[in-house]
Amino acid sequence: MRKINLLPAKKIASAGMVFVLAASMLSGCEKKDGSKAEKDPYAKAVFRDAKASTEDRVKDLMSKMDINDKIAQMIMAERNVDGGGAAYAMVKQYGLGAMLSGGGSAPTSGNNPENWSEEINNYKKAASESKFGIPILYGVDSVHGNSNVYGTTIFPHQIGLGATGDAELVEKIGTVTASETRGIGSNYAFSPVLGVAYDEHWGRFYECFGENTDLVTELGTAYVNGLQGRKDSDDFLSQNHLLCSIKHFVGEGQVKNGYNQGNVEMDAKEWDDKLKNDIIKPYVSAIEAGAQTLMVSYNSINGVNCHENKELITDYLKGELGFKGIVISDYDGVEHCKGAEYKVQLAECVNAGVDMLMEPLDWQNCYYTMINLVNDGTVSEDRINDAVSRILTVKFDAGLFEEKINSDIEKEQLKQIGSEEHRTLARQAVSESLTLLKNEKMSDDKTAIQTLAAANKIAVMGEAADDIGTQCGGWTISWTGSKGKTTEGTTILEGFKQVASDKEFEYVDSADKISADTQAVVVVAGEDPYSETQGDSTGFGLFLDEEGTTLINEAKAKVGDNVPVIVILVTGRPLTLRDSYDNIDALMSAWLPGSECAGIADVLFGEKEFTGTSPVTWPVTAFDISNKLVDDSVVLFKYGTGLKKDGSSIK
Ligand code: BGC
Repeated sequence: MRKINLLPAKKIASAGMVFVLAASMLSGCEKKDGSKAEKDPYAKAVFRDAKASTEDRVKDLMSKMDINDKIAQMIMAERNVDGGGAAYAMVKQYGLGAMLSGGGSAPTSGNNPENWSEEINNYKKAASESKFGIPILYGVDSVHGNSNVYGTTIFPHQIGLGATGDAELVEKIGTVTASETRGIGSNYAFSPVLGVAYDEHWGRFYECFGENTDLVTELGTAYVNGLQGRKDSDDFLSQNHLLCSIKHFVGEGQVKNGYNQGNVEMDAKEWDDKLKNDIIKPYVSAIEAGAQTLMVSYNSINGVNCHENKELITDYLKGELGFKGIVISDYDGVEHCKGAEYKVQLAECVNAGVDMLMEPLDWQNCYYTMINLVNDGTVSEDRINDAVSRILTVKFDAGLFEEKINSDIEKEQLKQIGSEEHRTLARQAVSESLTLLKNEKMSDDKTAIQTLAAANKIAVMGEAADDIGTQCGGWTISWTGSKGKTTEGTTILEGFKQVASDKEFEYVDSADKISADTQAVVVVAGEDPYSETQGDSTGFGLFLDEEGTTLINEAKAKVGDNVPVIVILVTGRPLTLRDSYDNIDALMSAWLPGSECAGIADVLFGEKEFTGTSPVTWPVTAFDISNKLVDDSVVLFKYGTGLKKDGSSIK
């Protein structure tokens, strides 16, 4: 496990501390003890003048900064350096540009929204006390809601949002996610993923909206609009929203065999065509919508890692596409550049065009090495100036210099975390993403789904039926996510009982316990949580696991042909169902639905109709992936498959 608190806990701030000092208000302020704060030498500087243009403010501030100040702005460090204790001092002393909480890096004082808020606001205060009081960016992986934090609203992962195809809904989800992220003090979300998914062996398949570039473009742009606010509105980058990072740039979905951080193997011309006519579209659209930052991808293209690819970052992204925002490296991304020594890798990365360096625990090494690289001329001052002016421009444009620490808006956002209204939106998303793939006729007038809706006594099987951790998947509370009661919400089984309280649901752990008078069986099966490389399926078969397969087959053997066996898959990707498929009367994918699973019951037992359609082509077996887009005979469910309760197609 890479991203957890490895170091001893340290209490870093007293409870209930409220900071109302904006950096711009330092001058002549009373300190808590009543004495006057040191006079702020920059009180009258142009960069402090909210009415001055961003260009003038950047110019003024940069003219006052020395090379060390500038390099510090390029660094993003992890909060868990020394359990969070040293981080405060380093932000203040060095004037670091940014901090992050990687997956699972929660306050040592305990994972709840209040502790997060206290800790992050403490870092903001440290930044306000640094030499120039430049506000920090505080980044978190709000990839399906503010999902590191206990008690937040967890939305379906992007693959499920792809199934909804509903841009309006996705924009609303972006807005709520921004609010729940702002509520803990963070102003920066590493989201959304704009990769176009292809090979489901890849452990990050579910982080994408799907395999269709137009779908990814539409929903990705909607998500950016939700997170940052619409560019043409007064709300753009307001405190109701935050800065987003579109990621990962670029080609991660096209790597050979779906290996995470792998290599795209195409000849130069083929790659160029693919990139410029297809893969780039979601990025171009998101940049037009105002995406302020972009994260580089771990993968390589024909052996060249994206982090060291100057042609890609400087010439193409910043040059041809005119991206003016911040290019940030991925977690420890520098180490993905060629070179036996760190200083060579770092020079490669910065000279390729990376502006902000996510060097979580190694930030100090990064800082001093960068200073040496500039001193010996390996990295030019011009390159540093380009990076820092981008970073400061984004910070000024986002109003961070004027923002009060722990403002009233933020306090209200904190209160709204996990609110009824937010959870209702997530529940709607769960309903809309539910994708019905098979629905056999059980009698002349009823399909399997209609039979389930009419049944009074229903057996429910599979651990995943009643497990919030499994339903949320990876990137939930911890980096990889985990099974169990990891956060608050409603499981699938709880949702059944809530929505269809007139029916009898009997949870059984084996088929021989199914009562003789059972009228329908629901089996919930699929994948255990995972993230990144740990989720790569090296087995290649991607079979539904033995537990799920056995439950389905034994349930069918027990209840016979007249009682439907209905399968709900909780999965981040298509699975091979060959060993149980014939025993399934109705099959649906809930994808990775998140915390509000009553949305499933709303469709199965309520008035709602199925609306989800598959955002990916589902092959008969994972051995057929390489042919799935060209040979229909290896396809179990085509892209866009989605049925209704009566068995007819949505599209
Ligand atoms: C992932 C990014 C993530 C970052 C920070 C990396 O391992 O690739 O998607 O934003 O960690 O947690």
